[in-house]
Amino acid sequence: MSEETKTYDNILLEAVRDGVYLLTINRPKVLNALNAATLEEMNDAVSEVISDPGARVLLIRGSGEKAFVAGADIEHMSHLSPIEGKAFAEHGMHLFRRLETLEIPVVALVNGYALGGGCELAMSCDFILAAENAKFGQPEVNLGVTPGFGGSQRLTRLVGRAMAMELLVTGRNMSADEAMRRGLVNHVYPQPELLDEGLKLASMIAGKSRSAIQLTKQLVQRGQDLDLDNACVMESDLFGLSFSTPDRIEGMAAFLENRKPKFA
Ligand code: CAA
Repeated sequence: MSEETKTYDNILLEAVRDGVYLLTINRPKVLNALNAATLEEMNDAVSEVISDPGARVLLIRGSGEKAFVAGADIEHMSHLSPIEGKAFAEHGMHLFRRLETLEIPVVALVNGYALGGGCELAMSCDFILAAENAKFGQPEVNLGVTPGFGGSQRLTRLVGRAMAMELLVTGRNMSADEAMRRGLVNHVYPQPELLDEGLKLASMIAGKSRSAIQLTKQLVQRGQDLDLDNACVMESDLFGLSFSTPDRIEGMAAFLENRKPKFA
């Protein structure tokens, strides 16, 4: 059922169906660790997905059953100078911010270790579905470095300052259940069911209005860093803007005619 896309060395990208894309980080020998080449290919894959006007949802997972992503590639980083280290961090930051602000929802399917850069990647997605064996953590203190792909900032926003601080300074892992209790993960599934659950959810999202989802992402992403007055002004503005879309005409007409909407 799924269609082949461009061929990559470190990732797989499949157009599954109905605008749902599945990106698999495919370096199982190193538990899908992220080096510069992998970040580059992920960035190209995002461009490929978003150039399809029919794209609706991007799912991201790691290959195999052991890891989502076990972090930035430590072998790669061990050769970097301070300036190169900063450039490597900026490379990851740029890609992860791009995912966070992408027009379509991005969902992480965390099928094992999500450590360091892997936890940071998952946190840059709109939300996370996890397998029961998933483990989340920011173990950079064990390597004598800080997080570099946004972990200190996104973890703090997601779980609060005190818990983020505990996780960052101890480097301890959180189980999937703990991550769900702390608001990092939306749902936990037995590992064999994770992909199907992700695809089911993606199909549900794919049937909704793409333009309304795009504006909603902007509201949540931009609004969280604004004061409430300005955030509410932005919501009225984008609500008004949504009235200019064909989907608004179709969505309201379908309701009034008691039928299912057919969005653009
Ligand atoms: N980078 C490079 N290689 C890695 C890796 C990483 N982040 N994580 C695992 N690997 C490699 C291992 O070196 C090993 O390779 P070999 O078979 O050639 O020895 C292979 O993957 C399998 O790993 P293990 O044998 O270690 O597997 P395990 O089951 O015993 O342990 C683990 C699994 C707990 C995830 C362990 O591999 C581990 O601790 N990995 C490192 C996790 C980490 O520190 N991540 C943070 C990186 S720093 C970062 O991400 C900075 C940032 O914010 C940008």
